Formats: sequence, structure tokens, C-alpha cells
Amino acid sequence: MKLHLVSGGAGFVGRNLVKRLLSTTNDYLIVIDDFSAGTPVPSKWMPLPSVSKEGNLEIFGDNKRVFFLHEDFRNFLRNITESETYVKDLTGLDLRISDVFHFAAIVGGRAKIDGDPMMVALDLSIDAEFFYWVTRYKPARVMFPSSSAAYPTNLQGVDGAIALEEKEIRFDSVLGQPDMTYGWSKLTGEYLSADYRTALQHIGSLCAPILGLRRRPGPYLPCAGYCCPCSPQRRPV
Ligand SMILES: NC(=O)c1ccc[n+]([C@@H]2O[C@H](COP(=O)([O-])OP(=O)(O)OC[C@H]3O[C@@H](n4cnc5c(N)ncnc54)[C@H](O)[C@@H]3O)[C@@H](O)[C@H]2O)c1
Repeated sequence: MKLHLVSGGAGFVGRNLVKRLLSTTNDYLIVIDDFSAGTPVPSKWMPLPSVSKEGNLEIFGDNKRVFFLHEDFRNFLRNITESETYVKDLTGLDLRISDVFHFAAIVGGRAKIDGDPMMVALDLSIDAEFFYWVTRYKPARVMFPSSSAAYPTNLQGVDGAIALEEKEIRFDSVLGQPDMTYGWSKLTGEYLSADYRTALQHIGSLCAPILGLRRRPGPYLPCAGYCCPCSPQRRPV
């Protein structure tokens, strides 16, 4: 039995992953969301009964499988960094966090990306604290979801658009301009993921653009359930 962490767990991708982990494993989950977007009432979609709710912590499942924290993910990261017993105090479990799925982000589709770029830039702060914690805590596996927004916009225009490939982002070569602050945050996340994989080879990590087609998206970001494993261990979840 393992313990996993899902950030942004009330969002579109996060809550589907939570349901998937519950149906395919017997593992415990810590799920965190500040409800700035997503679905603010987890009991509406959680496939397990709510067994207790106190302060910002709601526990689901008769055997206490899901610990749902309504909180800014950065607070959680600071708490767990400061206290070695934080996870045990929170869950009562004597387990280290194994797999980490990091979906907490300001997303909001094109309206948000184009209309409030400084709000979206907060993703840089969330991701920076996330990678800082990851390199210290060293979970077994880490997932950071990237986006086609990380690719240079000059390759995604109406004229001269090409089918983008991984090689269009090379940190050892000239980088193009990503798509707004959202693209910058994803590009930075890819850089930190790559650096982190090099520094800590024993940890499986997956930096996944989760759009099926690598083209500039329309008004909303579709999720085609496409994951490209970049980990040297090739152990995607
Ligand atoms: N949905 C897609 O098609 C798609 C495509 C490419 C990449 N992604 C990436 O996948 C991730 C999840 O996307 P999504 O579509 O589920 O977005 P979403 O907006 O549905 O979910 C994000 C969740 O993060 C939460 N959140 C935001 N800031 C937080 C904070 N500081 N602390 C805690 N929770 C916070 C929001 O409340 C929301 O529930 C994002 O990183 C996004 O960039 C999604």
C-alpha cells in the first residue's frame, strides 16, 4: 500500500486522476486544491463516502483512503518541508509520499491566458516551490503536465505551422517565444523537470504535454489523454 499526492485535485485532470487511482490501486491519496477553479465540493464527484470533515481537511472512504485538503498547494509544500512528521500528523499513516501528480495551476483556457497573464504567471511561483520541494523530499515518481503552449508561437501560426515534435524545445539551443505567461511557466517547468531528471536519475519523472495534437489550441484546451513519457526509466503511470 502506497501514499500518493495529487495537487489541483478538484480540477478537470486532477479529479479524473483521483478516480482512476482509486479504481486501479488500493493506495492512499493526499489531494490538495484551493478551489480557485475546479469543483469546490469534492463529495459531489468523489467515489468514496465522506467520513469526516474538520477545518480544511475532509477524509473519504471507510478505511480513510483520501485526505482532501482545501488549501493553497504552496502552504502544503512549506509545511511538509518544515516538518518531518507533517504527513504522519495529517494522515496517521507511517508512509512516505510515493508518486506525485502536480496539477495545481491557474489554467482557465484562452480567455484567462490572454486576458489575465499576470494571474497565470502565479504558476511560476507554484511550480518553483513544487520543484524545490521535490528535489529535497525525493518522491519515487513525479508528474508535471506541460502543454503545447511551451512551443514557440512562430511555429504555430496560421502561416507556416508545422507538426511540432519534442525537438522543437531544446534547452541547449536557441529557444523561441512560448505562448504568453502560461507557455513561459510550462517551459520553465520543462526546464526544471529536465534538470531534476539529470540531477536525480533514480527518480522516475514524467513531463507530459497532455494535448494530443501539438498545435496552438482554440478557445479551450482539450485533453486528449495523450502522455509522452520522457523519463529515462520509462515508467509512466
Ligand atoms: N486540460 C488540458 O487539456 C490540459 C492540457 C495541457 C496541460 N494541462 C495542465 O494540466 C494541469 C491541470 O489542468 P486542468 O485542465 O485540470 O485545469 P483545472 O483548472 O481544471 O485544474 C487546476 C486546479 O488547480 C487548482 N489550483 C490552482 N491554484 C492552486 C493552488 N495555488 N493551490 C492548490 N490548488 C490550486 C484549481 O482550483 C483547479 O482545481 C495544469 O497544469 C494544466 O496546465 C491541461
